[in-house]
Amino acid sequence: MKIVLGVSGGIAAFKSCHVVRLLKEQGHDVQVIPTATSLEFIGRATWEALSGNSVSTSVFDGVPEVRHVSIGHTAELFIVAPATADVIARLAHGRADDLLTASALMARCPVVVFPTMHTEMWTHPATQANVATLRQRGVTIVDPAHGRLTGPDSGPGRFAEPEQVVNLALSVARRQSQFPRDLEGRRVLITAGGTHENLDPVRFVGNRSSGKQGFALAEVAAARGAEVTVIAGATHELPTPLGSEVVRVESARDMYREVEKRDEDADIVVCAAAVADYRPAEEKGWKMKKSASAESTSLTTLSMVENPDILKSVVSRRQERTTGDDHAGPDKSSTPNSATPTIIVGFAAETGDPNHTPLEHAQLKLKDKGCELLVCNDVGQGKVFGRNTNRGWVLSRDGEVTDIPSTSKFGLADSMWDAVANYEDRVR
Ligand code: CTP
Repeated sequence: MKIVLGVSGGIAAFKSCHVVRLLKEQGHDVQVIPTATSLEFIGRATWEALSGNSVSTSVFDGVPEVRHVSIGHTAELFIVAPATADVIARLAHGRADDLLTASALMARCPVVVFPTMHTEMWTHPATQANVATLRQRGVTIVDPAHGRLTGPDSGPGRFAEPEQVVNLALSVARRQSQFPRDLEGRRVLITAGGTHENLDPVRFVGNRSSGKQGFALAEVAAARGAEVTVIAGATHELPTPLGSEVVRVESARDMYREVEKRDEDADIVVCAAAVADYRPAEEKGWKMKKSASAESTSLTTLSMVENPDILKSVVSRRQERTTGDDHAGPDKSSTPNSATPTIIVGFAAETGDPNHTPLEHAQLKLKDKGCELLVCNDVGQGKVFGRNTNRGWVLSRDGEVTDIPSTSKFGLADSMWDAVANYEDRVR
C-alpha cells in the first residue's frame, strides 16, 4: 500500500522513525512528509534512509513533478503522526502552506491523525473545535494517550506508541473509511490479559494470554468514541491502550472484584480475559523450598479450587438488576426495568476436540454463559496466543454467526464492535 506519513514538529517525532520501519517491514511504500519545524527534531536524511524515498517539506521542491498532486493522488492511506496543535489547525482550516497540508488537501484516501501536545493545548477549545471539524469531515483523530509529556507535566497529550499508530491506521485503511463514532457517550468495560494465581511470593500458575486482543478491543472502542475502562491482568508490558483507563490486577479474584465495582455503570461489558478457572487452594506467604520439608509435597502435588466466573457473574447481576429474577431468559434483560441494559460479550478460545468443532463448543458456551454475543477464536496449535492475527466467529444470541476471516487483532476488534452495533440495531 502507498502510505503517506506526515510528521509535524513535536519531540515525539523520533517515535515515528519506528512507525516507518514497522510499515516498511509489512511491505508498504512510505512517503514521509515532514513539516519544516519537525526537521529541528529529526533530519531529512533519517527519513530518506528509513523510507527509501526522497523527502521534502515544500511544494517548491521537485516542481516539475508537482509533488503534492502526485502524492495526494496515489496515497492509499494518509497518516499524520505526530500531529501538533498547529498542523491540526492548518488541516481543519484547509490551509495548503507546505507540502504536508497541500498533499492532505489533494488526498481522497482515509486520513488518520495522532495528536500530541501538552494537555492545555489539547483541551483548549480551539483545538477541540478543530478536532470536531476534522472528524465531521471524515478524518479519524485518535485521542492521545494519558501520561508523561515533554516536561515535568503529565496528562492527556502523549503520543501513541509506534505499534499503536500502525495498528490503528491500518485498521482504518482496512475499513476504507474512518471509524464510526457509534460508541460516543457509551461506557465500555473490558477484561483483558491472563490471570496469575499465586502459589507463593515467587511462583504462580498462569496462561499464555498476551492481552493483545483485549487491548485492541479497547483502542478500537475508544477510537469509536467510547469511554473505556480495562481491567487488565498479565499483558506482557504492552503499551497502555490509547483512550482507556486501565486498572491492573493479578488474580481472577482481583479481576472479579474490580469488575463487580464497575459493571453496573457500564453500557457494554466485554470479557476478553483468559481467566484461570482454578487457583491453588492455598497461597503460601513464603517461598516453598525444594529441600525435604513439610512443604515439598505441595510442590509436586497441587491442590486447586475453582475461581469465580466473572462473565457469568456480570450476566447474573444484570439479570437481578433488570428483572429481579436471576433465572430470567437473557432477552428479558431489555425489559422492563431498564431502558438500556448492559450488553455483555464473552470470548471463547477453543481448539475443538474429537466430538465438537470450535464453533460447536462456542454455541454451547454462548448458551451456558447467557451473554448476548460470543467471539470464538480458533486457538489450536499456537494459532493465536501472542500472535498479531486472529480468526474466528461472532455468535449472537439471536442466532447470527458472523465469520471473521484471519485478520489482525485490531481487525477482529473492529468486526466485533460492528457485530455489537448490528445486534443492538436488531434487538432495539
Ligand atoms: N471467563 C470469566 N471468568 C472465568 C472463566 C472465564 O469471565 N473464571 C470468561 C472469559 O473471559 C471468556 C469466557 O468466560 O469471556 C469463556 O472463557 P473460556 O476460558 O473459553 O471458558 P470457560 O468458561 O473457562 O470454559 P472451558 O475452559 O471449559 O472452555
